[in-house]
Amino acid sequence: MGYKISIEKTKKSRIGNVDFNNLPFGRNFSDHMFIADYYEEDWHDCRILPFQNYSTHPALSSLHYGQAIFEGMKAERDADGNPIVFRPAKNFNRFNISADRMAMAQFPEELYMNAMDKLLTLDRDWIPTAPKSSLYIRPHMFATEEFIGIKPAENFRFVMFTSPVGAYYNRPVKVFIHDQYIRAFPGGVGYAKCAGNYGATMLPVREVQKMGYDQILWLDGVHKRYLQEIGTMNIFIIIDGVIITPGLDLGTILDGITRDSIIQLAEDEGYVVQERDISIEEVINAYYENKLEDMFGTGTAAVLSHIGEFHYKGENYELPPVEEREASNKLMKRLTDIKSGKAEDLYGWLHTVPVGIYSNQ
Ligand code: COI
Repeated sequence: MGYKISIEKTKKSRIGNVDFNNLPFGRNFSDHMFIADYYEEDWHDCRILPFQNYSTHPALSSLHYGQAIFEGMKAERDADGNPIVFRPAKNFNRFNISADRMAMAQFPEELYMNAMDKLLTLDRDWIPTAPKSSLYIRPHMFATEEFIGIKPAENFRFVMFTSPVGAYYNRPVKVFIHDQYIRAFPGGVGYAKCAGNYGATMLPVREVQKMGYDQILWLDGVHKRYLQEIGTMNIFIIIDGVIITPGLDLGTILDGITRDSIIQLAEDEGYVVQERDISIEEVINAYYENKLEDMFGTGTAAVLSHIGEFHYKGENYELPPVEEREASNKLMKRLTDIKSGKAEDLYGWLHTVPVGIYSNQ
């Protein structure tokens, strides 16, 4: 079924207020946003509006019970100035996987892509061109039942807006490996991009940030032994030339799109890549045997960010200088070149939005 999107353009762009050479992450918002509402078992009122606040009922069920999910994608511009988006179909799939886990309505792919294309066409001047910057696209969905009591909602709102961003991390990341707090268990929601997964980490993250670390590298909930993910990123380590990352089989970590891309690119470059359990003992033993060559995170926001240092049970372990990390630097360059349209897109990862197709709307 075709969904029609109405468009109300902003009367006055705010683009002149933004310093595109100095973009913090997630603080500036482009001129337009897309909204659709789900009721009576279908999506209605699909509309693009000037970016604005909306009001909420005090009993809005997502605010009380957490039926809320989101995604992140990034757009850059190709050599002709057309917006290009990295692997939006895979993001879309993950969005509906998260929706399924949270008992929320499925969102139609055609509407997702159409809303994104129209937003990027309208706000294409918001796509930054400075190195390491891009237009972050944030789709999200939340339950809009006005109700007190626990039951899966039947009404939802889907919103998509964009934000010109610079780098998420500007220096190697310091992670704290926690042996007390746990992020996810098998059978839980670790693989879903649901708001509660992030909310539950705020207290532990605040505690480690007070100690000078940036983030937590989570261990598994059953043994408190196996690396999981960083919350903002999936984790990779390189021991003795082998690239290792935790597998997805337990459903406790996010199925990262950057993770998947890095695995593919690493295999293309001839590296041995293993998706398997990595115990903290294995990492520390490799460190003392001088075989721990690299540790880095991957994510849409963070792209590929090196870990500078990790902490476990009272000890800090420093990783080699970033300039010496040949494999991850090569993979980061391959990835960023593909995302920006500079390198050949061998796998059809880029979605191009032809500028002008919606120019009369
Ligand atoms: C992303 O990488 O897109 C995320 O949603 C994670 C968050 C650090 C912004």
